Amino acid sequence: MKAMITGVSGYVPPDVLTNHDLEKMVDTNDEWILSRTGIKKRHILKDPTKATSDMAVEAVKELLAKTNTDPSEVDFIVCGTVTPDRTFPDTANTIADKIGAKNCFGFDVNAACSGFLYALQTGAMYVESGKYKKVVVVGADKMSSIINYKDRATCIIFGDGAGAVMLEPSDSEYGIIDELMGGDGSGREFLLKQAGGSLFPSNGPGVTPEMHYAEQEGRTVFKFAVKRMSECVTALMKKNNLTADDITWLVPHQANIRIINAVADHAGFPIEKVMVTIQEYGNTTAATLPLCLRDYEGKLKKGDNVILTSFGGGFTWGAIYLKWAYD
Ligand code: UT7
Repeated sequence: MKAMITGVSGYVPPDVLTNHDLEKMVDTNDEWILSRTGIKKRHILKDPTKATSDMAVEAVKELLAKTNTDPSEVDFIVCGTVTPDRTFPDTANTIADKIGAKNCFGFDVNAACSGFLYALQTGAMYVESGKYKKVVVVGADKMSSIINYKDRATCIIFGDGAGAVMLEPSDSEYGIIDELMGGDGSGREFLLKQAGGSLFPSNGPGVTPEMHYAEQEGRTVFKFAVKRMSECVTALMKKNNLTADDITWLVPHQANIRIINAVADHAGFPIEKVMVTIQEYGNTTAATLPLCLRDYEGKLKKGDNVILTSFGGGFTWGAIYLKWAYD
């Protein structure tokens, strides 16, 4: 039994933050951002009453409509996010409630930019068990809620968004075939939000407002992102007796166009076979992969060999190989 993707959807909020807008907020400029990251703009959820689940709900409602699924049919929702609505309860259950999915359970996966990839692997195992027939996998992040718009090392990169896929059982060649997942907790100090957990409780001693924002050592993260994604894509292809010629699409996490280009180069992919949306949305953390699939859905054909790969805080990384299941 395999798990196959039977639908994709996505949502980005209407408000846009351009590079020129950022020029007025921090010491940066459009030319630097575009040449160093490939980002032109990002979407921001400005409504202070809305949270990650609200974007996810927009994406999931579209997904249910596209796949002719009644909310009562959904068995399980798994949501990759580092910006849950609240520390607890989890966002997946909030999404289930808001879409009226009464017969399902769910939980969140905290794997930063690898959140969707880890959630996809998790959701696939539920389907492969034979016990669950309709599994919704979400990647959603309201990064603007944890970004310091005075820190040019982070605020130029991140945007808000959500994406979702439906997983259903497959007894054919189509669906998720293999994966390589990785993690290394010794990388935890290079990309993180310090406060709000049990180590530095929100109002604990010595906790400053800055500790509630995402921070990163960009160069270190960049280096590991290229290394780990290149390595696992290459190893996954080798394990399955494939070369880049056999793969129709590489779907990499969208953090920086230079990371994407380097991974494509190391793994032997021409850029024409690589999904790229970073210019539109920036780095939406757990939402980048499903937003890529949503934007390229019209180009995907039944039987296409697809490899998704990601790298994020933790460190977390991985690659999933699948055969696309529909035109
Ligand atoms: O999704 C996973 C999470 N994140 C990532 O994968 C991000 C990985 N890292 C990156 O994408 C890049 O490291 C950044 C985009 C964050 C930074 O780009 P970089 O090419 O690594 O720049 P850098 O940190 O090496 O800085 C180069 C120069 C420095 O100036 P000096 O010391 O050479 O004079 C920085 O102060 O660029 C300066 N700089 C900026 N200048 C204008 C750093 N940020 C900016 C900025 N605008 N926003």
